[in-house]
Amino acid sequence: MFKAIYIDKQDQQYQCSVQQLDEQVLSAGDVTVRVDYSTLNYKDGLAISGSSPVVRSFPMIPGIDFAGVVEQSDHPDFAPGDRVFANGWGLGEKHWGGLTQKTRVAGDFLLKAPASLDNHTLMVVGTAGYTAMLCVMALQKQGVTPDQGPVLVTGANGGVGSFAVAFLAKLGYQVVASTGRPEEADRLKALGASEIIDRQTLAAPGKPLGREQWAAAIDSVGSHTLANVCAGIRYGGVVAACGLAQGMDFPATVAPFILRGVTLAGVDSVMCPNHVRLKAWQQIAQLLDDNMLSGIGHDIGLGDVIETAQALLAGKVKGRVVVDVNRD
Ligand SMILES: NC(=O)c1ccc[n+]([C@@H]2O[C@H](COP(=O)([O-])OP(=O)(O)OC[C@H]3O[C@@H](n4cnc5c(N)ncnc54)[C@H](OP(=O)(O)O)[C@@H]3O)[C@@H](O)[C@H]2O)c1
Repeated sequence: MFKAIYIDKQDQQYQCSVQQLDEQVLSAGDVTVRVDYSTLNYKDGLAISGSSPVVRSFPMIPGIDFAGVVEQSDHPDFAPGDRVFANGWGLGEKHWGGLTQKTRVAGDFLLKAPASLDNHTLMVVGTAGYTAMLCVMALQKQGVTPDQGPVLVTGANGGVGSFAVAFLAKLGYQVVASTGRPEEADRLKALGASEIIDRQTLAAPGKPLGREQWAAAIDSVGSHTLANVCAGIRYGGVVAACGLAQGMDFPATVAPFILRGVTLAGVDSVMCPNHVRLKAWQQIAQLLDDNMLSGIGHDIGLGDVIETAQALLAGKVKGRVVVDVNRD
């Protein structure tokens, strides 16, 4: 028997609870993993609350990422005792995810844990930190260098935003952090932000083109914020867009793209190929430091998950929530 967060939908009733499950119910897959840690991401909040149709089949164990140890494997790349982790691939949406003490998945979803990152650290970083690194890499791919000017990060107190601030600062970029929580300014400055702006300045419908302020941006917010960010990027700048915390819409004009040569780079972590993931995790391992880890992550037990998911959706959680699945 093992414990898991379990979502079911019967007679249109959406239910999420902690359940004891029998190993026999584990889904198909070629690797069985004893999970140590999972995390709570925005998407997990949506899945757990049922407030958005994230879950594609029922019943479902949510959790878009996990780190653990292989218990049994029919996959040639993995053997019992290997430390492994997974992000995305439809975990917690189409396939049973990581908010569980045990899971069985396709081995192709797994990566071997880098020796320098323990399972807890892997999940402090989690999908949010890995996505933040994909965004940094998108800016680097387009040739954005620290000497070109400030880089804006929206949703800065969230998981993606916090790591985007920290990684950019460590790489020498001047970081402007946009947040709705100015009371967390000291935390963002400790992570490396040099300027904090109020997210309200970007939240309402704006002009097609604004003052050229930032060389580049990482946006996890979408909607009017993303439109205003694009309108405020300097000539030839780049915006890496990965999220929709304000909304999925993009009420913009083409003006920044056709008059200022701005590039909008989309970032997806879910189906991202393994060779890109490996590059992202290598760069994460090089940049991570204790300041980032202690400033961004905090732990909860499996029994705290449902309540914390509500707080996350209400924007009351800062940084990253790591779930110790073996703690009540
Ligand atoms: N593309 C991908 O593969 C991928 C991967 C991971 C995440 N995401 C997406 O990226 C986004 C952030 O994920 P996360 O895990 O970092 O979530 P999170 O920890 O909940 O952070 C989201 C942050 O967005 C800001 N925010 C929330 N509501 C807002 C609103 N109405 N208007 C403006 N800002 C708002 C808040 O930051 P402040 O308090 O600082 O204002 C909040 O902390 C989500 O939309 C998520 O689905 C996408």
